[in-house]
Amino acid sequence: MADKQAELTVGGENYSFPTLEGSCGPDVIDIRKLYGNTGKFTFDPGYKSTASCESALTFIDGQEGVLLHRGYPIGQLAEHSSFMEVSHLMLTGELPTKDELDEFTHTITYHTMLHDQMRQFYQGFRRDAHPMAIMCGVVGALSAFYHDSTDISDPEHRKISSHRLIAKMPTIAAWAYKYSVGQPFMQPLNSLSYTGNFLRMTFGVPAEEYEVIPEVERAMDRIFILHADHEQNASTSTVRLAGSSGANPFACISAGIACLWGPAHGGANEAALNMLREIGTPDRIPHYIERAKDKNDPFRLMGFGHRVYKNYDPRAVVMQKTVREVFDALKVKDPVFETALRLEEIALSDPYFQEKKLFPNVDFYSGIILSAIGFPTTMFTALFALARTVGWVAQWNEMISDPGQVIGRPRQLYTGPTQRDYVPVSER
Ligand code: SDX
Repeated sequence: MADKQAELTVGGENYSFPTLEGSCGPDVIDIRKLYGNTGKFTFDPGYKSTASCESALTFIDGQEGVLLHRGYPIGQLAEHSSFMEVSHLMLTGELPTKDELDEFTHTITYHTMLHDQMRQFYQGFRRDAHPMAIMCGVVGALSAFYHDSTDISDPEHRKISSHRLIAKMPTIAAWAYKYSVGQPFMQPLNSLSYTGNFLRMTFGVPAEEYEVIPEVERAMDRIFILHADHEQNASTSTVRLAGSSGANPFACISAGIACLWGPAHGGANEAALNMLREIGTPDRIPHYIERAKDKNDPFRLMGFGHRVYKNYDPRAVVMQKTVREVFDALKVKDPVFETALRLEEIALSDPYFQEKKLFPNVDFYSGIILSAIGFPTTMFTALFALARTVGWVAQWNEMISDPGQVIGRPRQLYTGPTQRDYVPVSER
């Protein structure tokens, strides 16, 4: 809904562009006609001032530290909901009734198995391959197995592909872990919850029954909720851009996994725990804080800072609380938690971090919990990808079902050589 015009003067000419108003958050200036009217592009590397799309899925207020999924605050969802319920919410727009939740959970449960030939993809990797390398490869390979649902213009095809992706990610991730430790793959067990099934496929062995610890199952499920979706972050934007060309959803999610792997994005949970372990004891924190502030030192506090949050990441608040719950349930005492708490305290009282509004983000505490549960650091980003798949497919569906959807194709500011003629090598 346009409520006022934005005026722009270019080369002495005045131009007017409509502004569009969302249900909450900043208005946008609709510049779709800018190039046609002015012959000029906007310039916004990193898209710090650019809204790439319209979406009704997730809202973030970075100044206030607010995160809503279809209007529901992340703190309430983490406290009262489940990952299956949040997945239904992200895909359909509404929290399910009991019957709807049972039906959705049944559908997901009955798609958790992988085609038996998919085992062979794992055999092609070195045992020490990073799980994210395996996830990229195996998820992309899913597109070779589902020729019955590749018409993305068909809502039913989109629905079954979305369910397959959400359902199979736990199996794919668990098998990546099993492959790395040389244990046999565990098949899904339909009598378990989505998250309990994942824990059993990861830590269970054929030689004995595996008992899901309720507190761990609850903590893991909550971690999945906290990672489900996050507006137009780098990996979601990657999925949207890949999907805008009409690529199949499995290939798009594989592209999202590749992007998430970076240490500036989803790879930060692995990097944050490695950093905390390198710091070791609280007395070494000041040295690392100084390094993080030193412009000539590439070191950054991993798990700190965020492009959007200039306040505490609401997910980190829940994550910190969950550390204590898991430690109590597993009777774990890892000094790295004390180091993390102390590091946060020192950083947040330092003018550098205060002026730049750098706070702990979702990745700062998650690794401590995952490590206490038994995951190696190399699995942390794979777990992030597992959970974020529901957000990726929801965003992909929202884009593909938009009748006005077009292929994404940004332009550039060209600063290379102007036209010149070829010179034969004998004359160079
Ligand atoms: C995720 O987008 C999302 O929503 C992502 C995510 C999701 O759910 O999808 O929330 C998940 O990716 C969380 C972020 C995980 N990454 C990290 O924890 C890595 C460490 N953080 C930084 O690399 C950084 O804060 C980013 C990448 C997260 C954000 O970078 P920006 O927005 O591009 O900000 P910037 O790099 O321009 O930093 C602004 C200033 C700079 O100093 P100046 O050049 O102004 O002097 O703050 C400094 C930076 O040097 N800075 C840090 C810092 N983060 C930023 N200094 C020290 N330690 C840090 N962690």
